Amino acid sequence: MKNNKIIIANWKMKLSLAESLDLARAVKEKFKDFSGGQVAVCPNFISLKEVGDILKGSPVKLGAQNVFWEESGAYTGEISPRQILEAGCSYVIIGHSERRKYLNVNYEMIHKTIKTVLSFPDLVPVVCVGENWDERKTDRRDYVLFDQVQQALSGLNIPGEQKIIIAYEPIWAIGSGTAIEPAEAEYAHKIIRITLNDMFGLKVVSNNFSVIYGGSINSHNVKGFTGLEDIQGLLVGGAGLDAEEFFQVAKSVASGKEED
Ligand code: PGA
Repeated sequence: MKNNKIIIANWKMKLSLAESLDLARAVKEKFKDFSGGQVAVCPNFISLKEVGDILKGSPVKLGAQNVFWEESGAYTGEISPRQILEAGCSYVIIGHSERRKYLNVNYEMIHKTIKTVLSFPDLVPVVCVGENWDERKTDRRDYVLFDQVQQALSGLNIPGEQKIIIAYEPIWAIGSGTAIEPAEAEYAHKIIRITLNDMFGLKVVSNNFSVIYGGSINSHNVKGFTGLEDIQGLLVGGAGLDAEEFFQVAKSVASGKEED
């Protein structure tokens, strides 16, 4: 179980090309001796290739923030799994809540995208789920998570060694500056895991799936999330935009692992 924690930074649409390259160099330097888990950064599309070139030889891997469900064709503005693989990606975020909110991405699209990505063994999907504030307030969170996981993954055949990451991101916590209570995240992770167990069986879930948390994690609140068995890693936004802050978050996650 050593080194199985996952720490992924989503740089969103926040950096220029030059800023992305500077951050990639700083991250590479900070993480040069890091062995406490899997680490990845997800820059914007125009920065992917050059960030990937900078990260060569570093334990930090490259991820894309999105991908399309067709492999090629007349799909203006979209990018295919093969293209992000060519750019050097090992991970891809699918169905981030900002895309669900601003671009009407739904779980039918997310399902099709995961299905396509699963035919590329070198690409690990990071599938986002999470309830909004209204759903939480009206006590529908458990059902929403169950439903999202079902819609995203039902009927899919998970190839033997394929890893799949589910990112639980309560929409109301993203970018708010306040993470949810670790115990609440842990409970949500249990719901997700029970749903996955029902769908795929315990063996596949423990071999192939990881469930990570995202939403306003930083170097101060991360401690509450480390060492919790059901939280296998973190997806960070804001905290990933500063190499030192990102490193502190990753270090805490890694040391949480070593303690148990
Ligand atoms: P945040 O973003 O850490 O800035 O809240 C998390 C995310 O959107 O994945």
